[in-house]
Amino acid sequence: MKILFCCSEAYPLAKTGGLGDVGGALPRALLKQGVQVKLVLPGYSVALANAKPNGLKLLNELEILGETVRIWQSRLAGSRVTVWFIDHKTFSSREGGLYGDELGVDWHDNAWRFYVYCKVAELIACNEAGLDWKADVVHCHDWQTGLIPALLNEREHRPKTVFTIHNLAYRGLFDQATFHALQLPTHWWHHESVEFWGEFSYLKAGLVYSDRVTTVSPSYAQEIQTPDFGCGLEGVLEQRKRHLTGIVNGIDDKVWNPGTDTHLSCHYNRRSLSKKQLNKTALQKELGLATTPDTLLLGFIGRLVEQKGLAILIPALEQFLAQTDAQFVALGSGQQEYETALLELAAKFPQQVKIYIGYDEGVSHRIEAGVDVFLMPSLFEPCGLNQMYSQRYGTLPLCHYVGGLRDTVVNLSDSQLEGYTQGSLGVDNIDETGFLFCDATATSLLATLNKAYICYQNTPLWTKMQKNGMAQDFSWGVSSQRYVDLYESLLKENDSQIR
Ligand code: ADP
Ligand code: GLC
Repeated sequence: MKILFCCSEAYPLAKTGGLGDVGGALPRALLKQGVQVKLVLPGYSVALANAKPNGLKLLNELEILGETVRIWQSRLAGSRVTVWFIDHKTFSSREGGLYGDELGVDWHDNAWRFYVYCKVAELIACNEAGLDWKADVVHCHDWQTGLIPALLNEREHRPKTVFTIHNLAYRGLFDQATFHALQLPTHWWHHESVEFWGEFSYLKAGLVYSDRVTTVSPSYAQEIQTPDFGCGLEGVLEQRKRHLTGIVNGIDDKVWNPGTDTHLSCHYNRRSLSKKQLNKTALQKELGLATTPDTLLLGFIGRLVEQKGLAILIPALEQFLAQTDAQFVALGSGQQEYETALLELAAKFPQQVKIYIGYDEGVSHRIEAGVDVFLMPSLFEPCGLNQMYSQRYGTLPLCHYVGGLRDTVVNLSDSQLEGYTQGSLGVDNIDETGFLFCDATATSLLATLNKAYICYQNTPLWTKMQKNGMAQDFSWGVSSQRYVDLYESLLKENDSQIR
């Protein structure tokens, strides 16, 4: 089975968030399952530079709407996954972010850039790009790849298509003039096609024209069919519900393994959990915080955007830090208002808070290993990866009860905590791994922080929850098998049965 895996990010070549983690890890896992997988990435300057040590070979040069596009071949580091880079000058001759400049402003020509990417992916899939390879299934991810299923759908003979939603909030919206400039089929300008309330949506193209739609957790698959989470696309998703499934993400258990993690000062596992403490002390030192072992240390890592719940996190922490001796570290970058609010929190509690504005893989690993509680108060979360990294690192996640967070964290209820604290319940048989709160409010979050604080004083209970988390299997084994099953079931169908 030959899969063309089209994703705009793949760790360690190019990453802005979880999409990059999945783009790097899932192709490797599929390869392990015996699938012949080729990864197609935009040829960003940073990605080409990162690929250089593994070799870069020019395979072909094409012309798309009068412009030159090169296809380069490399390999995903440490694996046999072939990567094909689509190199147009708007990717390869541009410094700055993958989708925008340093200030977070989107590149003005994103529609063009990702049209070129999609067009070349379509040609590769159909063996028309001179690579002597033809896909059975094309697996696309998020709005950047949305035009691929639509372009393929125009053909009589074509590979099957799967479209995975990682985040419905990014709809890839452009204006009607852009649609015409790209010379796309005019019958697409329709509300049952790519038109979305007078605009042109790349994401909608993927949702409408792919043979199967998946998203990254079962709960999010349900949520996006409702107006609260559907971003205006709930109707389209409702229509496609027979072909919509949620497959929870896995994690790369080589990159995220406290037993071998090269970013840590001291390795540990379930049997040597006490050594996690050394990572906490090292982190406290690095942060310039008091190296007191019993102080509850909280952490947050993420894109500083509305989705991540900073508007409830910051007021809740303000009260919690005033009432307790807890410490807090955050790493992230994004919207100015949240960066400023976090820095103000640090100014208010200089002995308890350290904020890193920026992006740093090493610091993110040291936070996962060093903190006691990892905070994810996301307003919505398609899957979320850090709550799984946390559990692997013996760090208890404290999350909003939403999306993939619901599906991957087992909540310790108030009554359970009371029972364990009073001794009426024994901890031996519990399977809880963290804390979930239902209302997306600062009050509800604060109450749950207080619960975690009490729980932290109960060492046997805390240790058991840590070990429960570390025993979870979040590896890609099971989920990659589910994708393989999906590809196989699609290949068994006649074209007429598909949609
Ligand atoms: P999302 O994809 O919505 O950003 P996920 O939880 O799926 O959220 O994945 C986020 C990924 O990006 C994780 O691997 C996380 O550690 C990483 N990450 C986010 N911000 C930073 C940062 N500032 N520095 C390092 N890693 C980061
Ligand atoms: C998105 C989502 C996140 C998910 C990631 C990888 O960016 O916001 O919840 O884990 O994609 O699927």
